[in-house]
Amino acid sequence: MELLDGKKVSNEIKEEIKAEVAKMKERGEKVPHLAAIIVGSDGASLTYVGSKVRSCERVGFESSLIQMPSTTSEQELLKKIKELNVDDDIDGFIVQLPLPEQIDTQKVIMAVDPDKDVDGFHPTNFGKMALDMSTFIPATPFGILELLERYKVDTKGKHTVVIGRSHIVGRPMSILMGRRGWPGNSTVTLTHSQTKNITQIISQADIVISALGVPKFLKAEMVKDDAVVIDVGITRVPDETREKGYYITGDVDFENVSKKASYITPVPGGVGPMTIAMLLKNTLLARERHRSRN
Ligand code: GUN
Repeated sequence: MELLDGKKVSNEIKEEIKAEVAKMKERGEKVPHLAAIIVGSDGASLTYVGSKVRSCERVGFESSLIQMPSTTSEQELLKKIKELNVDDDIDGFIVQLPLPEQIDTQKVIMAVDPDKDVDGFHPTNFGKMALDMSTFIPATPFGILELLERYKVDTKGKHTVVIGRSHIVGRPMSILMGRRGWPGNSTVTLTHSQTKNITQIISQADIVISALGVPKFLKAEMVKDDAVVIDVGITRVPDETREKGYYITGDVDFENVSKKASYITPVPGGVGPMTIAMLLKNTLLARERHRSRN
């Protein structure tokens, strides 16, 4: 078994980006500027956005964190998005999901200028991705592709089973793994809550990508010998014996599945840090595109 070490690879990527930013500074160019909007005070979302902003500082980007109360109306959020769309200093921005229920997430995604949509969630960018056109690829699937590439994992002709059809991970992942090229060229099955015989389908997978959010859902007896196992789940399980009052666990019973897998991502330290690294990569791309437009 080889560990797909997202922490290590994400640090390498951040160092590469930092070197790029240093060159930009030497040339007297503006450095990339990422803004993040967070609505409400969900603990996990605040942690993720905090890491995104800190990572910007680490690589030399400018960053802005915009915190709005959980009572924010849809109109107020859309107004803020319009401001960021026309703010020439901001190269890219994200609106952290999920949003409070009074806000229509689809309207929010549609309001973001596709040129600044470093999450790759806008239909223009999602469509381009599906059509193999150059665009912003959603950070979590992009991070998984990068891990597969850096560890030279063979995906051609393999059966990839994606668990979960969210717009953020499962759906784009299923498209990307079936694309021409590498990583890709897989035969993909996208499974979800309505899938019949899901355990039987998973047992046929050469590559399993689980984005379900159910702790320890994937057990050793469900996976094939030498399967590649990618765990996207990050669930906080309450535990009073821990300092923070919880511990983090993935969708995969790591202790047992790791004995059978050929490659596996840990949680924490697998897909999570890769997501942040790829958001930075998208922001660097947004800056380069912004500069060439001006
Ligand atoms: N919530 C969970 N993952 C993500 C992500 O990649 N981007 C945004 N904006 N929200 C998220």
